[in-house]
Parts: sequence; structure tokens; C-alpha cells
Amino acid sequence: SSEKLWGGRFAEKTAASVEDFTASIQYDSRLYKYDIAGSRAHAAMLASQGILSRDELEAIDSGLVEIGREIEAGTFRFKAELEDIHMNIEKALVDRIGPAGAKLHSGRSRNDQIALDFKLYLRDQCDLLMELLKGVNRGFVRLARGYLGAVMPGYTHMQRAQPVLVSHHMLAYFEMFSRDHSRLEDCRRRLNLSPLGCAAMAGTGLPIDREQVAENLGFDGVTANSMDSSGDRDFAIEFTSCCAMIQLHLSRLSEELVLWSSQEFSFVEISDKFCTGSSIMPQKKNPDIPELIRGKSGRVVGSLMSLLTLVKGLPLTYNRDLQEDKEPVFDVVDTVSASLSIMAELLENLEFNTATMEEATKTGFITATDLADYLVLKDVPFREAHGIVGRAVAYCLDKGCELEDLSVDELTRFSDVIAKDVFEVLSVRGSVDSRISTGGTARVRVEEAVAQAEKQLGIA
Ligand code: ARG
Repeated sequence: SSEKLWGGRFAEKTAASVEDFTASIQYDSRLYKYDIAGSRAHAAMLASQGILSRDELEAIDSGLVEIGREIEAGTFRFKAELEDIHMNIEKALVDRIGPAGAKLHSGRSRNDQIALDFKLYLRDQCDLLMELLKGVNRGFVRLARGYLGAVMPGYTHMQRAQPVLVSHHMLAYFEMFSRDHSRLEDCRRRLNLSPLGCAAMAGTGLPIDREQVAENLGFDGVTANSMDSSGDRDFAIEFTSCCAMIQLHLSRLSEELVLWSSQEFSFVEISDKFCTGSSIMPQKKNPDIPELIRGKSGRVVGSLMSLLTLVKGLPLTYNRDLQEDKEPVFDVVDTVSASLSIMAELLENLEFNTATMEEATKTGFITATDLADYLVLKDVPFREAHGIVGRAVAYCLDKGCELEDLSVDELTRFSDVIAKDVFEVLSVRGSVDSRISTGGTARVRVEEAVAQAEKQLGIA
């Protein structure tokens, strides 16, 4: 028989090519801490159920602690022929402590063991990403507070639409990343049920106590169906989907930063230490950080697609296909956490050119909607008002001027309800400050929103 922990029924040694092809230890060694924590909790339970003696438990515990230390120190030798993290650790344990180690796997399978490790890992990653999201959000709130009062054009279709406060624009991102935070909270809550004890897929006849293990590992409870648990990867897909949304939000922000730092816009200056140069063009200062973040959204979305496609058509319960779930998830964790950290730093390294932004609000008939609203307040039906202002804009385009450059006489040609008070409405500040509806860009509303955001982040 082979030397594998599962080798009993095999007459021949596994082919080296098969060992290579099936091994996952190159990447799942990342789960070692969780595998060890899970094994220790499982062993503690087996001891309290009388399946392990106190001495055996002690031997297992100290053996696992020692293995953990060696892995941490980089002195542990992982072996591809032992397939995965579970077998590498279990085999090392048996080699060190003998028969007690060989009892550890009672009432458990690698199927529930990997589900457990993966959930414990992702629970930590949810916490990590939530912290990183807060870091980015602190950046937006600081900018929103710091630039209170500054105006800029708001765009639809990338055409100047209506003037807004720069702070309002920053807080739009705060909202997006706050939703991402709450999505991760949700994901964490849903995944926080222990699968351990579902064994291969049908449960076990050994007198185990799943609840004890779950409590020991900080789970809110145990999963309800052993078959579901050994094949369920919803939690990994949900996590990756949350991450994809984060990366897409970062990508949209990056796109704006790239655009805004162009000479054509010049809305923003990213500090030298956060830009890179060109190998040929001496004058260049390129926004590579946001470009790379934008570019990395491809791999994150790709990973989500990998996982979705992975489970499509998989029969219950565990299938080895599921081993393919780890690399995409690990890559997503690395990519999204790196992108969030660097974006938080970038936000501390940029300055808005408020004068240029304000200048950009002065052309493009950006207060045309305000003129239409002005007419509505004078009882002109909105559709009619829309037409009136449209004709006035066409007249200005012809003349090569802005709406506020017209005289009252010229304006009354389009509607006789227009009077001198119209100029207040046509001013950028007047426009911004009139938008006091809930969630609007008026300074009073934005000040409230900044204060609310600061409260949410625990900033005094
Ligand atoms: N390395 C495996 C995985 O990632 C662990 C479970 C293997 N179970 C099995 N019966 N081969 O899914």
C-alpha cells in the first residue's frame, strides 16, 4: 500500500504527475492558521466527548502549536505529495506525536475541514476589508470637510450638468464604500456558521458536539444540513461579489482621478510621490496608481466569474472541482486589500484646484435647470419652462454667451414672467444653495452630511 494517509486500498504508488496535478499546498498553505485552530477546537471537543484522553489532547495541542510556529518561522517543509494543507499538517503531527495524532481525524473529513478553514479565513478577510474601507472613507470625509464650499461642475453623460459642491462629490463615494462595508457585514454574518462535524457529507455516528466546536471558534452556530455544508461555496461567491463591487467603486473613482489630473481638466493635483514618470518623455507625470487600480478590476471580476462558473452544474455534495475555489479568492483578497490601502494613501496625497473647478462651472449653461425651476415657481408648467430655457440656450449659443450675460430685456423675450431676480438663480452659488432637498448639494445639506459621516466613522 502507498504511504498516503488514505493509502490503504491502493496497490500502487500515486504517479508523480498526478501528485503534481492534484496538489493545492502551493496556495492553500495560506490557510494554516485556520486549519490549526480548527483542529485544536476539534480535538478539544473529542476530548470532552471521551474520544481522546487528556494526555492525547495535550500531545495534539502542543504538536499543533509547534507546527504552527514552524510554519510561521518558515522552517516547516511542505510536501506536494501530501496534497494540501490538511494532510501536510496532519502527517507532520502523526510523525511527531504518533498514535494520538492519528486519532485527530475522528468524526471529521477534509470536506468539512476545508469548508471550516475557508470560512474562518474569509471571516478574517471581511474584518480586514471593513477596516480598509473605513480608511478610504476617512479620506473622503477629510476632503469633504476640508473643501467645504468649493464648487465644481457635476456631470451627466460627461457633459456639464449642474453645479455641485466638491464635498458632495466626495460624499457620493463615502456612500458607495459604506454600502460595501454593510455588504461585507452581511456576508460575514451569513457565513459565520460552523460546518465542522458534517464530516464527508452525511454527518457522523461518533458522539461529537458540533456546537462546542462552533462556540470555541467564535461561530454564531452550526450549519443545518450536512450535505449542503460539504458542497456549499455560496459564502465564497458572496464574499468575492462584495469584493468585485468594491473594486468597481475604486475603478470608477480611479477613472475620475485620471480624468481630473489630465491637463484638459486640471481639477486635481496628485503629489509627485504618488505619480510616476515616462522612460522617454521627460515632461510626463502619470497617474499610474489609479490606472492600475482601474486595471485590476478585470482580474477581480474575472475571479467572480471563475467561481460562479465553478459551481454551475456541480452535483451535491463535495467534488474535487471545489479545490479550484481558492486561488481566485486569494487573488481577490490580495488585489482588493492592496487597492484599498493605496487608495487611502492617495487620497491624502491629492489637492483640488478649486479655482479651475469653479471656472469650469461658469460655462456650459450649467444653471439652465435653475432657470426652468424659476419659471415653475412662477407657475409655468415644467415642460413649457424646459422649452423656453432651451430656446434661450440656443440663442446664447448663437450669440456666443452664457445665460447670465443676457439682459432682462433679452430674457423676457423668451418669457414675460422673467424679472430682475432671475440673476440670483442663474448664479452658480445660488444654484448650489437652492438644492436643499434631502440628499441635495446645498451647503446646509452637505454640512449635515459631513457631520453624519464623521459620526459614522467615529471622528469627533
Ligand atoms: N484540498 C481540498 C480542497 O481544497 C480539500 C478537501 C479534499 N477532499 C477530498 N475528499 N479530496 O477542496
